[in-house]
Amino acid sequence: MTADRRLHMIILGMILLFTAVACQQQPTAIPTSPPATAATEVAPAIEPSPTAEPVPAYLNPTLPAAERVEDLLGRMTLAEKIGQMTLVEKNSILPTAVTDYFIGGILSGGGGYPHTGNTPEQWAEMVNSYQEAALGTPLAIPIIYGVDAVHGHNNLKNATIFPHNIGLGASRNPELVQQIGHITAIETRATGIPWNYAPVIAVPQDIRWGRTYEAYSENTALVSELGVAFMQGSQGEDLGAATAVLATPKHYIGDGGTVWGSSTTQDYMLDQGDMQVDEATLRALYLPPYEAAIDAGAQSIMVSFSSWNGTKMHGQQYLLMDVLKGELGFAGFLVSDWQGIDQITPNYYEAVVISVNAGVDMNMVPYDYLRFINTMLTAVENGDITEARIDDAVRRILTAKFNLGLFENPYADTTNIGLIGSAEHRALAREAVSQSLVLLQNETGTLPLSKDARIFVAGAFADDIGVQSGGWTIEWQGKPGNITEGTTILEAIGATATGEVQFNKFGRFDSFDPPADVGIVVLGELPYAEGWGDAADLSLSDSDVELIRRMGEQADKVVVILLSGRPLLITDALPLAEAWIAAWLPGTEGQGIADNLFGDHLFTGQLPYTWPASMEQLPLGAGDEPLFPFGYGLTTEN
Ligand code: GLC
Repeated sequence: MTADRRLHMIILGMILLFTAVACQQQPTAIPTSPPATAATEVAPAIEPSPTAEPVPAYLNPTLPAAERVEDLLGRMTLAEKIGQMTLVEKNSILPTAVTDYFIGGILSGGGGYPHTGNTPEQWAEMVNSYQEAALGTPLAIPIIYGVDAVHGHNNLKNATIFPHNIGLGASRNPELVQQIGHITAIETRATGIPWNYAPVIAVPQDIRWGRTYEAYSENTALVSELGVAFMQGSQGEDLGAATAVLATPKHYIGDGGTVWGSSTTQDYMLDQGDMQVDEATLRALYLPPYEAAIDAGAQSIMVSFSSWNGTKMHGQQYLLMDVLKGELGFAGFLVSDWQGIDQITPNYYEAVVISVNAGVDMNMVPYDYLRFINTMLTAVENGDITEARIDDAVRRILTAKFNLGLFENPYADTTNIGLIGSAEHRALAREAVSQSLVLLQNETGTLPLSKDARIFVAGAFADDIGVQSGGWTIEWQGKPGNITEGTTILEAIGATATGEVQFNKFGRFDSFDPPADVGIVVLGELPYAEGWGDAADLSLSDSDVELIRRMGEQADKVVVILLSGRPLLITDALPLAEAWIAAWLPGTEGQGIADNLFGDHLFTGQLPYTWPASMEQLPLGAGDEPLFPFGYGLTTEN
């Protein structure tokens, strides 16, 4: 999502809000619990009077989904079918338009919390307002509301924010990842949202990519294992449960395998670029996670912005239709990425025809949904898109909606709203942080620290929830500062140490004679997301290196904690500190870092990505010996 896109979204949102107020279309004050009619008359409660129509088959929950889909499809007009294929960003549409155009999906883009405020109740009200509008259509087909909950329900303030996937890759723990998928689903569905654009199952081959941290690893098998674990946690055994959310493995396919400098989007260098490999490599490196996801019950998959040998994935009929839907038997629906269709060709009509015929079933058209709908109507009238293709796409979408139980329970079930950000959920996140840490160096047995040591702490990042959470947190790009509830690394150290702890973000301490027993320096990367994080140079800044040196003059031993979305170049700085910890982007529960620092937990993490010694070793496989190999990690076995 580009910066101007964010601005566009905000302006649009303000216009829509003003329009709503100006036209006295006050968004209906929707109760957080389902409106009485929905709560008390759960389908099929409609008792047909002797003369009334029998309850339509599609509203009969005792029938198989396939039967309900066929019955419903047979009742739909072309406009209603095309509406189901339309996914609109909530800032671009008023609920009344959802009714008028039979819209099938609404999403919150990154940072898309309600204009009314960022509480769970306000999220539920927002989702319910669109749902009520959808149920006002003749066939009352519910919308499916989607969001990116990629490390917890991360747009929601005070939700539990887990380590980003790179840290979960370091944990090597599928059971932990499954629990995280389950907790994320509980917190997401409690706000009325049944659809999550996660997990990323990319297999990044160049850590200069701004989305490296969203993926688990450079290793295909590990990505498959953890991607399936997250999906199973998210979807559970019953997609209709109040604790289940439809997962969306993404981005199909090869989003992490693009060539540096091949992107044509904004100033991006890798993101949305071109993957230039032969089919055998594509199948070996990038396809297995999707095979595993489909076997694990994936019912929606998001298409990648990237290209394969010059052809945009959104128009790759062979990979979308023949391989994914044909060879692998994917029976769910393919959702485009944000205006992904538009990138195929400047001629919008052609782009829509190519993409829908290639296999895209639902178009994430964040803004101009009328243009999409009218283009689709024209394309069908022209015979450029067949009704059979439309029916196939709508079948796939409706099947997912029936499986999610949306026809029976369309409104937010806020039963679990009190669990959001709960101590129990945060405890799991804290454990995940502990297991995600990779100990890169530990000379003279510096770690674990003694709790009564005299400790200096330096680096602004030591006391910053926004930095330790990274991108996709409250805002699309993330944001430094006290943006949500959690425990910073400094707070965690303070809560655990029993001796003197001094903090100075510049690393300047009044008295260091005698020197501190240990100096902890926290540094790394400011938050970023997507192509805005593509980086030509991953070196530590001069000021960061200077900070480590300065600490070395004031403390007997130095520990560096790196907060980053990927390995950074630390080769030359390594000798400046006794211990180095890769903490990745741990999220809100910084206590997990203190647990390992002071020996309450052992370091067990293993590198999910090769750690390069120089930029010449990128992309993966270039150059000679890395600084640390894939799988490396020291432990603090006592
Ligand atoms: C973004 C991302 C995608 C996300 C979507 C909706 O551009 O590429 O991962 O799910 O838009 O926010």
